[in-house]
Amino acid sequence: MSPQVPSTPSPAPVQRIAVLGATGSIGTSALDVIARHPARLRASVLAAGRQVDALVALCASHRPEHAVIADSQLYPRLRDGLRDAGLSTQAHAGDEALDVLVGGDGCDTVVAAIVGATGLASTLAAARAGKRLLLANKESLVLAGDLLMQAARSSGATVIPIDSEHNAIFQCLPAQRDDQALRRIVLTASGGPFRGRSRASLADVTPEQAIAHPKWSMGPKISVDSATLMNKGLEVIEAHHLFGLPRSRIEVLVHPQSLVHSLVDFIDGSTLAQLGLPDMRTALAVGFAWPRRIASGVALLDLAVHGRLDFEQPDLDAFPCLALAFGALEAGGSAPAVLNAANEVAVSAFLQRRIAFLSIAEVVEAALARVDDTDGSLDGLLAADAQARRDADQAVVRLAHRG
Ligand SMILES: NC(=O)c1ccc[n+]([C@@H]2O[C@H](COP(=O)([O-])OP(=O)(O)OC[C@H]3O[C@@H](n4cnc5c(N)ncnc54)[C@H](OP(=O)(O)O)[C@@H]3O)[C@@H](O)[C@H]2O)c1
Repeated sequence: MSPQVPSTPSPAPVQRIAVLGATGSIGTSALDVIARHPARLRASVLAAGRQVDALVALCASHRPEHAVIADSQLYPRLRDGLRDAGLSTQAHAGDEALDVLVGGDGCDTVVAAIVGATGLASTLAAARAGKRLLLANKESLVLAGDLLMQAARSSGATVIPIDSEHNAIFQCLPAQRDDQALRRIVLTASGGPFRGRSRASLADVTPEQAIAHPKWSMGPKISVDSATLMNKGLEVIEAHHLFGLPRSRIEVLVHPQSLVHSLVDFIDGSTLAQLGLPDMRTALAVGFAWPRRIASGVALLDLAVHGRLDFEQPDLDAFPCLALAFGALEAGGSAPAVLNAANEVAVSAFLQRRIAFLSIAEVVEAALARVDDTDGSLDGLLAADAQARRDADQAVVRLAHRG
């Protein structure tokens, strides 16, 4: 008989990660966490929209097998840039190439951090392929949440929310969920840069003021969404899909310190919350390692230093976008898709100084006034998205002329 050798646990295989939106705020944070754990995490696919030089630079640092630029005209620059840098990374271009890579064998995990509804196809591809899906692209859930969650259930994909509020709720909910025991979830909102201001005082605010978020460093679109509170509205719809809860069991509470990321209330009177400094690397580290924990680079939260935690109700008069999102969720059908598409058009027009800050809600409201029935299919939702963009474009022209 041979002597028994004590078995040592075999090391976890290296997780190969596709980072979509690699040049953006979330993508950069994801790559920071990945670089801290070379023995267990590796970026194998990096994808970006138009910042081709930044993508080449990221490839030089992270050495992925594949790099994808969405704008096909930039393909030669990506290919030549990779070659000139002496990298073996293969260059690709266009949305279809991305979807194939996301669904293929070259990655186990997908960080879905493209901004806007344009991220839907790749997020769906990851869900259908059964990947571990770190979902930051909330717009894809707002546009097609039922289809996306159904695709993940069918394939066995693990969806881990990366939005800090949903990541907090994900951490607070027990693995074996008992719906009878859960009373409601409460999403916290920083209130954005204009918290406490009246509606009238917001008439002349500039894009620079709107994107200067007091607590979080984020891309321009989500920063404006935070200033209008549309971000919180999109998150309510996102929470409905992620956690299967009706609007009546999802509350919003303004919490200006952004330290309590969200709360879960149970029927026995318990409230569980997740706290931490406002830094998306915590949620990303949770996404990569769950149910284990790994270091994220985020400093310890010292509550004695921060001193106080404040909470207040959101002001739906000054920030009507939140009420519009509540209404869209209650209306169902294609209303959330219309809300999201019109908002993307309106935010872009505001950032280009074509319309005023308060007109963002007016554009969304105009598009919502024309919601048609949908069969709930992907084609039906994409048609509603396209129609809403046309309606919103018209509203922008009208409001821009009004001056
Ligand atoms: N930032 C945050 O703290 C935060 C928190 C929670 C949730 N989120 C969500 O995460 C998503 C990303 O937000 P962000 O703040 O990181 O945005 P961001 O900084 O503006 O970055 C957006 C990224 O998307 C890429 N992109 C755009 N169109 C693309 C396409 N067609 N194909 C591939 N890549 C494309 C951009 O590439 P180029 O720049 O190269 O064009 C960029 O890398 C949004 O849905 C947002 O709501 C963000």
